[in-house]
Amino acid sequence: MKSVGILGTGAYLPEKVVTNKDLEKLVDTNDEWIVTRTGIRERRVAAPDEATSDLAVKAAQRALEHAGISAEQIDLIIVATVTPDMFFPATACLVQDRLGASKAATFDLSAACTGFLYGVSTAAQFIATGVYKYALVIGVDCLSRILDWTDRSTCILFGDGAGAVVLGPVEEGYGFRSYELRGDGSGGDLLKVPAGGSRMPATEETVKQRLHSVVMEGREVFKFAVRVLSTATEEALKKAGLTKENIDFLIPHQANIRIIEAAVKRFGLDENKVIVNLDRYGNMSSASIPVALNEAVEQGRLKKGDTIVLCGFGAGLTWGATVLKW
Ligand code: ACO
Repeated sequence: MKSVGILGTGAYLPEKVVTNKDLEKLVDTNDEWIVTRTGIRERRVAAPDEATSDLAVKAAQRALEHAGISAEQIDLIIVATVTPDMFFPATACLVQDRLGASKAATFDLSAACTGFLYGVSTAAQFIATGVYKYALVIGVDCLSRILDWTDRSTCILFGDGAGAVVLGPVEEGYGFRSYELRGDGSGGDLLKVPAGGSRMPATEETVKQRLHSVVMEGREVFKFAVRVLSTATEEALKKAGLTKENIDFLIPHQANIRIIEAAVKRFGLDENKVIVNLDRYGNMSSASIPVALNEAVEQGRLKKGDTIVLCGFGAGLTWGATVLKW
């Protein structure tokens, strides 16, 4: 098996900033409530003419440039998203065409906020086994398009964005060391978009009842998240033959600062090792982890040989973690 690592990272955030003050004009909420309960101060929202593939292409171009790999060299494109441009064609196909990645296999992957972790774990197997050499994994979501902007318990939480990585072979001993991926559909009702699929196709009534937007049992998701962030990290470390003392940086899914703080406390990790940017972007679903990773790279925080844990949770329910040596 070949060692597989991240050769380059990139991100794209839409220009429009929506602050908590802006949301006060839409729903009965206030900046103080949002900051105290979530840690979020502002988020980005895609322009009316920007769709998920537009965000994805920009993040991907930056990751390719950073990796020094051309689009023609890419063998596989995985787009992790729950807000594709449309049901089909897959957003990965639209991205492939726009990038000019002429020989790439393409598919979308639906694992909500855990999507990026599922995506890199999947792509890495193809490279480790020698089937492919280079893969592009993009975590991207335009959640603003599926929010109920009259529901204060959800619309304040999310933002739009895209993060991408190029995966490829690396020196032995570096790159991905372990993967822990889990799912539990019995919790599917806790966080979902009820209508628009084959179970409840779109009708005038489903639109009227706002069943095409995110509905969530916030408290239950909160408890689940705190639990699985620490258990998934522990499992991934164990599989890599490491302990929490080995962690240089933890990059968790950026949903709520209280979830991260509670998980880190439960896990017993120094908070300076935890990368957080949700104050500026909110929860960008599958884009959260790669955007935070890209920021850490751009800020020069990650050094060669650092042990990094990426961990996340989301609708499904899904959760997971991966350990890599940078
Ligand atoms: N502004 C003001 N008040 C609000 C708001 C708001 N935006 N939203 C809810 N409230 C009120 C509620 O109505 C409630 O009032 P009541 O006591 O009179 O009934 C009160 O605030 C407390 O509400 P709770 O829901 O108990 O608040 P909580 O402290 O649990 O925070 C939150 C809510 C932020 C949603 C939290 O539960 C959370 O972060 N949950 C996890 C959400 C999450 O991470 N989801 C994403 C998963 S990833 C994915 O796959 C997309």
